[in-house]
Amino acid sequence: MVGLCVFDAYGTLFDVDAAARDSAVPDDLWPALSADWRRKQLEYSWLRTVAGAHVDFWQVTQDALDWALEARGLADAGLRDELLGLYLRLAPYPDVADVLQALRGQGIGLAILSNGSRHMLDQAVRGAGFERLFDAVLSVDDVGAFKPARAVYGMVGARFGTDPREVLFVSANGWDICSGAAYGFRTCWLNRAGAPLDRLHGQPEAEARDLRDILSYLERL
Ligand code: LAC
Repeated sequence: MVGLCVFDAYGTLFDVDAAARDSAVPDDLWPALSADWRRKQLEYSWLRTVAGAHVDFWQVTQDALDWALEARGLADAGLRDELLGLYLRLAPYPDVADVLQALRGQGIGLAILSNGSRHMLDQAVRGAGFERLFDAVLSVDDVGAFKPARAVYGMVGARFGTDPREVLFVSANGWDICSGAAYGFRTCWLNRAGAPLDRLHGQPEAEARDLRDILSYLERL
């Protein structure tokens, strides 16, 4: 019986491309800048955890943006400020609000489990008007390591007293859903981009292209 649905934040609930898309970066450059920014943000998070050199995700996000701006010949203080400001209020994907409301209406517990810093997550959740939807917003700030460190996935049981098999974990990040599956969660990969499955140490139980698909999937669990 699954009574708790735990969501990754960035790329799953909140549109990580929205900042670059809505900024002054030219239309022909923002997709590449956004992809570089996201890729470096994830790489830096993994590398810092492996190296035992943790800083919070806001610092990682700034470092990654600085790399991406320089790589694309776009380094500029004003643009940097604009992009970071937009990142703090990323729009949710269009399928998110209805699904969260529907789950809430069914009495399913809802939580976020994210690399995001406490401040970043508070801003994003408030900006989207989701404050009252979640039972908990869990930030890796509390364990000082980034996903896929097992200590991060362990935050769910520590907070809710749940066995991993009582939790449905939903992430759009292939590496995150594989790692959550290896941890023992029930898992649904929100494969928004139609990407190939990551070859890692766990495999998701289910795959969806749209968050709405998890409503029918949960009924079958
Ligand atoms: C997060 C990143 C991995 O929200 O998207 O944890």
